[in-house]
Amino acid sequence: MVEPQRLLVICLGNICRSPMAEGALRARLREAGLSQVEVDSAGTGDWHVGHPPDSRAIATARRHGVDIGGLRARQLSARDFAYFDWLLCADHANLRDVQALAPRAGGGRSALFMEWAGLAGPIPDPYTGDESHFEQVWVQVDAAARAAVARLRAD
Ligand code: 4NP
Repeated sequence: MVEPQRLLVICLGNICRSPMAEGALRARLREAGLSQVEVDSAGTGDWHVGHPPDSRAIATARRHGVDIGGLRARQLSARDFAYFDWLLCADHANLRDVQALAPRAGGGRSALFMEWAGLAGPIPDPYTGDESHFEQVWVQVDAAARAAVARLRAD
């Protein structure tokens, strides 16, 4: 594994998808003994800065044995491009926003989180949905987190 590895998961509000992805990644990396991989999350928007994850995201993660209640939302900053190796986006709009902010040269690379992990598709925004949408997000981010462990081991 190439070290250090620093991963930043990004969505719009940093209260639903990316904190769930952060929690899943931390859990699967810890289980795999890859705790040296740094993981964080951020939002492209600033509406929820300082807020804990959405209560439905916390409840969904908890049902799967992962506590994300201590996370607090923050907004993506220019410094993140220098610090993180990968900026992993939930959907195409997030990826476009990240690419618009990226420095012209150097800095972390950006991708869709699912595709970076070798899986298909964006992660749809569950914010205006119901519990089943949050469950579907968990299924996606946990599959990507497990695939990420394999990718990082192979790197
Ligand atoms: P997230 O979901 O990007 O997965 O955190 C959202 C949370 C809040 C809003 C939109 C999406 N919002 O418009 O406030």
